[in-house]
Order: sequence, then structure tokens, then C-alpha cells
Amino acid sequence: MTGAKRLAKVEQEKEEKRVSDGKELTPLKQGLALEDVHFGYNKDKEILHGINISVPKGKTVAVVGPTGSGKTTIMNLVNRFYDVDSGRITIDGTDIRKFTIASLRNSVGIVLQESVVFSGTIFENIAFGKQDATLAEVEAAAKKAQIHDYILSLPKGYETEISENGDTFSTGQKQLISIARTLLTDPDFLILDEATSNVDTVTEEKIQVAMDEVVKNRTSFVIAHRLKTIINADKIVVLKDGTVLEEGSHKELLNRKGFYYKLYTDQMVLD
Ligand SMILES: Nc1ncnc2c1ncn2[C@@H]1O[C@H](COP(=O)(O)OP(=O)(O)O)[C@@H](O)[C@H]1O
Ligand SMILES: [Mg+2]
Repeated sequence: MTGAKRLAKVEQEKEEKRVSDGKELTPLKQGLALEDVHFGYNKDKEILHGINISVPKGKTVAVVGPTGSGKTTIMNLVNRFYDVDSGRITIDGTDIRKFTIASLRNSVGIVLQESVVFSGTIFENIAFGKQDATLAEVEAAAKKAQIHDYILSLPKGYETEISENGDTFSTGQKQLISIARTLLTDPDFLILDEATSNVDTVTEEKIQVAMDEVVKNRTSFVIAHRLKTIINADKIVVLKDGTVLEEGSHKELLNRKGFYYKLYTDQMVLD
């Protein structure tokens, strides 16, 4: 745990050097926008070819698209794991490169597809983002994330030691832990890449309930794989080969009878 925190701190200090203005992010007022974003991991191969997406405050925007269309890449840019080559990403109209990485990471909650657990107790794993979190707070978050009962079924409950490569949790359950961690830090803005692989039906249902809970009253940008998440989104952005093909509500997109319609009638074979 201490090791992970120290590592996070070193990474953060390293990353602060990339920041120009060092502004602090204030609570979200308007939302997030990608404006004509171009990006490639290598200079000779552009992956995103001028992406425009707006995520208005309080809304859930779902990105869908086939494997390799650039969904994860977009999230990498929003998290500033990488920076855009041209165009910009803004929060409330300010380029995200102007904010300190620390304040960006503090106000943006991230739940990744392959959610991470650290070695330490379950309590520490959930409390990770919030210093001085109480057991009651951790339990409340775990309940909302649908993982409390499972934790209690373990002999040592919240004091169970887990190892990073241990098998205490399945992939889906790790995502629930990650959702609990996010609920506890209560971020304004949420980025979520839904887990798909190796999720059994029971966990699947739990993820659905936890998802509803975590996006509620929040601004969310979700890489959606689950049909229910997609249908419930305020807006769906359809991505293909690094370009936005279509956007609209589920109904609007079906009526268009375009690529989304095809994805949907092909039973949403999405990655
Ligand atoms: N780290 C990387 N270095 C180079 N190319 C990458 C990297 N990550 C992804 N790509 C490429 O970027 C494209 C988009 O990938 P990705 O954003 O992961 O798509 P999706 O999440 O929609 O499946 C793919 O062609 C992929 O091969
Ligand atoms: Mg991906």
C-alpha cells in the first residue's frame, strides 16, 4: 500500500512537469468537450482523425464501436495518459493541459475495464482514494457497489489480505471494488470502461446495479458494452476507425438505419 502510494506520488511529480499553467480544477459547470482531436501513438500513424464529442454536465455519454475504433485511446487522452497532437480537450472551456494532473485526477474518477486491486486489505483497497475513510463509509460504498455481501462472506471480511495476482476476486468483482473506490471519492466526472470478459451472469447483474449507482447524478463518459448502459445513455457516440460516424439517442440511431443499427441488429458485437 505504502509502495503504491509512493509510486503514485513519484508518477504525479514526474507528470506535473508536463503542465504549463498549473490551474486547479473547480467543480464542473458545463462539461467536457473534445474539439477536433487528432492523435497517434506514433507520428507516422494517426489513430484519431478529428474527434468532436461533448459530454454536458449531468449527462451520460456512451461511446460504442468495434475493436480498434479508438475508444480506449479517447479515454487515455481524457485522463492525460497521452496528449492530443492537435485540437483540444476542454473542461468548462479550459484546455485540460492547463490543469494540474493532480487536480484532474482528483476530480475525475476512473473505472477501467481491467480494474486493479493492490496488495493490502480489502478495506485499504476501497479506501485508497480517500484518506481517513471510516469503515462505515467504506461499507456504504461497497454496499452501493454490490460487493459488500461477498466481502462479508470471506472469513476476515474487510480485513482480508489480497494480493495483486491473487484470486480473491474475479474480473467483474474487481470492477465492483473499483466502483466502490470511485463512489467513496465521489468525483464530479466519471470515466468508465465497462468490463466484458469473464463476467458471470450473477456478477453481470451486480455490475449493472453498481453502474446505475455510480453514474447517478454524475457526469459520465462511458465505453459501453452492455446494451442496458447504451440504451440508458443520454447520448451515444458511434466510433469507427478513429472517426465519429453517428451520434444520438438509441431511438434516433436505430431510426437512421446506419452503422449503429447494423451493430445493434448484429447483436452488438462490441469490444
Ligand atoms: N499503445 C499503443 N501503441 C500503438 N498503437 C496503439 C496503442 N494502443 C492502441 N493502439 C492502436 O490504436 C487503435 C485504436 O485502439 P483502441 O483505442 O484500443 O481501440 P478500442 O478501445 O476501440 O478497441 C488500434 O489500431 C490499436 O492497434
Ligand atoms: Mg478498448
